[in-house]
Amino acid sequence: MTHKDLAYAESLIAETPDYPEPGVLFRDISPMLADPAALREVCAAIVEPFKGQFDIVGGIEARGFLLAGYIAATEGVGMLPIRKAGKLPTPAAAVTYNLEYGSATIEAPGVLKPGERVLLVDDVLATGGTIAAAREIVSQLGAVTIGSAVILELLGLGGREHVGDIHTVFTA
Ligand code: PRP
Repeated sequence: MTHKDLAYAESLIAETPDYPEPGVLFRDISPMLADPAALREVCAAIVEPFKGQFDIVGGIEARGFLLAGYIAATEGVGMLPIRKAGKLPTPAAAVTYNLEYGSATIEAPGVLKPGERVLLVDDVLATGGTIAAAREIVSQLGAVTIGSAVILELLGLGGREHVGDIHTVFTA
């Protein structure tokens, strides 16, 4: 992997002003996902600090699923889908966390083995509430989060202060 490859991948994150509401700059990884070289390089960059150190990769709905599925396939591990509330008939773990306005709940199936080592992945770190809740989910399931990683860290929203140690490929 080279810096040139990653710079190319970063250039494929699309920006839409005033979406989903005025004043918000929406960043969409769809063009990056659609480019095989960019997808490969970014997923390699996500995994790089944790290579060989995890048994399963946890992806957070919805865009984290896309990364986790790819990484599970390339690293030869399984994948844990961490779902938004109400999608699983019998969730084994659930965590409710605060959003800017209101709250959200994520849930997961009881598929982890005790002590299993989990790498958590998602597309974006904003306030950090989602990643913090996902770590709590893994803990409730009796497994261990060995690391968390996102493609894009949005600076100035307190995410890093909230979640502590996290690996991010790009910042904005
Ligand atoms: C986005 C993003 C992260 C989360 C980050 O998901 O994909 O999961 O927000 O925000 P936080 O750091 O403030 O918790 P979103 O809720 O928009 O869901 P989606 O992936 O289904 O669009």
